[in-house]
Amino acid sequence: MGYTGHRPALDVVLDGLRRLEYRGYDSAGVAVLDGDGGLAVERKAGRLANLEARLDEVGRDTLTGGTGMGHTRWATHGAPIDRNSHPHRDTTGRTAVVHNGIIENFAQLRAELEADGVELASDTDSETAAHLVARIYDGDLAAAVRTVCRRLEGAFTLVVTHADEPDKVVAARRSSPLVVGVGVGETFLASDVAAFIEHTRDAVELGQDQVVTITKDGYEVTDFHGEPVVAKPFQVNWDLSAAEKGGHDYFMLKEIEEQPEALANTLRGHFADGRIVLDEQRLADQDLRDVDKVFVVACGTAYHSGLVAKYAIEHWTRLPVECELASEFRYRDPVLDRDTLVVAISQSGETADTLEAVRHAREQKARVLAICNTNGAQIPRESDAVLYTHAGPEIGVAATKTFLAQIAANYLVGLALAQARGTKYPDEVAREFHELEAMPAAVQHALGTVGQVRELARELADSKAILFLGRHVGFPVALEGALKLKELAYMHAEGFAAGELKHGPIALIEDQLPVVVVMPSPKGRAVLHSKLLSNISEIQARGARTIVIAEEGDDTVKPFADHLIEVPAVPTLLQPLVSSVPLQVLAAEIARSRGYDVDKPRNLAKSVTVE
Ligand code: M6R
Repeated sequence: MGYTGHRPALDVVLDGLRRLEYRGYDSAGVAVLDGDGGLAVERKAGRLANLEARLDEVGRDTLTGGTGMGHTRWATHGAPIDRNSHPHRDTTGRTAVVHNGIIENFAQLRAELEADGVELASDTDSETAAHLVARIYDGDLAAAVRTVCRRLEGAFTLVVTHADEPDKVVAARRSSPLVVGVGVGETFLASDVAAFIEHTRDAVELGQDQVVTITKDGYEVTDFHGEPVVAKPFQVNWDLSAAEKGGHDYFMLKEIEEQPEALANTLRGHFADGRIVLDEQRLADQDLRDVDKVFVVACGTAYHSGLVAKYAIEHWTRLPVECELASEFRYRDPVLDRDTLVVAISQSGETADTLEAVRHAREQKARVLAICNTNGAQIPRESDAVLYTHAGPEIGVAATKTFLAQIAANYLVGLALAQARGTKYPDEVAREFHELEAMPAAVQHALGTVGQVRELARELADSKAILFLGRHVGFPVALEGALKLKELAYMHAEGFAAGELKHGPIALIEDQLPVVVVMPSPKGRAVLHSKLLSNISEIQARGARTIVIAEEGDDTVKPFADHLIEVPAVPTLLQPLVSSVPLQVLAAEIARSRGYDVDKPRNLAKSVTVE
């Protein structure tokens, strides 16, 4: 984050960092320029609270001034210790830099600096930028930053200050996010609007390879060669309350409870004049009609939403659909051409693996449709069509409401394709859409399980491991349930296709091992339902403790369930929207019972902008 204006920069920057901490919490640091040639830096490994304790210890008097910047780190190069914390300074201490991303040619730059006698104080790639800027600085910070950026390889956002120019902050971006906030007599820079939403909703989006200089009176943008650029202003369409806990114990619970609204917002406006409409379509309708295969690419939870998409899109369009981990996609030479549609799903729109998959697909002439929760992020910018999920900010590192929103968006993509290709009649598309419109109420109903799941979580908190089983669309739900538990409760968890159990994983079953089973509807998928009952019998016979998520009124499961969690009956393809809810709560509450920070699980960050 960067700030210059009429308020004390330290206070503004610390408030901003508090709202950005979900992006990384390995260390935190601030720099403030006093206006008389002084540039003070404090930084500390660990959470922002450690930095604040340090500031209390050393006093805040040295950090007074109206210009400053700050950083919270998710470590890539160099351990999360004090000396690797940002801001980094050059040897004179007059230039300070914070950096997100990876400078890929840092080894070469470091060697060059060391050969010139520069002693680096950290193990990071980021510090090299501070020395490089300082070496060429001749009174024009923006010019120096532009020159350095032309030498850097990789993905980066840099924010730079210099003691000789205390009224400005300069920043640059390549494939890593950066937005400007425009206030009255003050200007902000941050990775995410959440940092300055308290002060202004007027924002400006920076494009690829651009440098911005902020002063209290405004901002100026150029490309890396100094050519002026007209940047795109936008209004942030949510307010501070969306980024606050609002009486909840933790953000994730708030976000779980916001799911009905998030779903409604994802669907809103996408059915007009009897047709499905996307947010931005830079593709001719004919391009959608010509599609002959679909790849869905994504990571983590977004990937699990993509697995659900496979079932829906194939069913509605009769097109072959492959769902692929974005980090694997471009390394295996997938068969792509101009009739391939690649659906790239990313909450942040910044995930480096997904962005690279998008770039690879476009190089191969495939069409790319992005599903994203962040307006104007890099992935939608580089795609041919966009569907925004409009789920609002998600602060908990574990994805919840954006998962459900992604699933809903996937359904919209499936219906848009079915409509364009004529595999569904308009009245069928309308009927499917109206079924989707009933889902926010169904999810609200599923939230009625929170109390029961919370109690169950307390009972399961000391388990060594939990397995999750599902079939058909219940399989991705099982994978997602296991991922949530791993990332939040640090408990061994695996999701399996229930039919696969007998081919190996059943050997894991031992007495009292908790196994969560996601049941299909007995009406919608009668055959699968009875097969799953057989699978439960197999594990029960071996002593497993069964926790069964089943449709309300499905009495046949009762003898198979040590714990039964009932969710409302909905059409089969839409079941993940309701059956995921108790699994999200289970993971969060087990984590809480084990004493872990639900919103900031260890080693993770919300946006993974490195490959
Ligand atoms: O921003 P993205 O949707 O691209 O992020 C993808 C994954 O990194 C993300 O879903 C991750 O798995 C979450 N921690 C899941 O809770």
